[in-house]
Amino acid sequence: MNIDVSLLEGKITKRTKVLLPVDFAGQPVDLDEVREIATRRGLTVIEDACHSIGSSYKGRKIGSISDMTVFSFHPVKNITTGEGGAVLTNNPSFAKRLALFRNHGLEKEHKPTHLQDFPWYYEMLFLVIIIV
Ligand SMILES: Cc1ncc(COP(=O)(O)O)c(C=O)c1O
Repeated sequence: MNIDVSLLEGKITKRTKVLLPVDFAGQPVDLDEVREIATRRGLTVIEDACHSIGSSYKGRKIGSISDMTVFSFHPVKNITTGEGGAVLTNNPSFAKRLALFRNHGLEKEHKPTHLQDFPWYYEMLFLVIIIV
């Protein structure tokens, strides 16, 4: 039930930025093939591993392979926190952006000099808009 990777490249347009394969029912997609296409086309791989926490692909643990790997902790998942999830990455730039994203783009590091004494002051570095 996973994506047929041989059809993937035909779906890529000049607007494509990300490949987002889903590991269905615990079976990882062919991540080597997805990686090869992503590298050749300059795309980021965000793996939806909501079904495959604890799985492996060619001896490597899911969560250690794609640019970003997403797990869900929704109540119907193998591991739950009631709601919530996690994103794993080895890329420091993605990690920084994700940490900001977690808190709606808010950060307190870049306070203007005249506001140094105001602990409540924060900057919103970007807007988080999710359209479902
Ligand atoms: C494959 C897959 N991706 C994404 C999600 C969404 O996860 P969440 O409800 O934690 O946002 C689910 C949840 O059922 C899922 O099964």
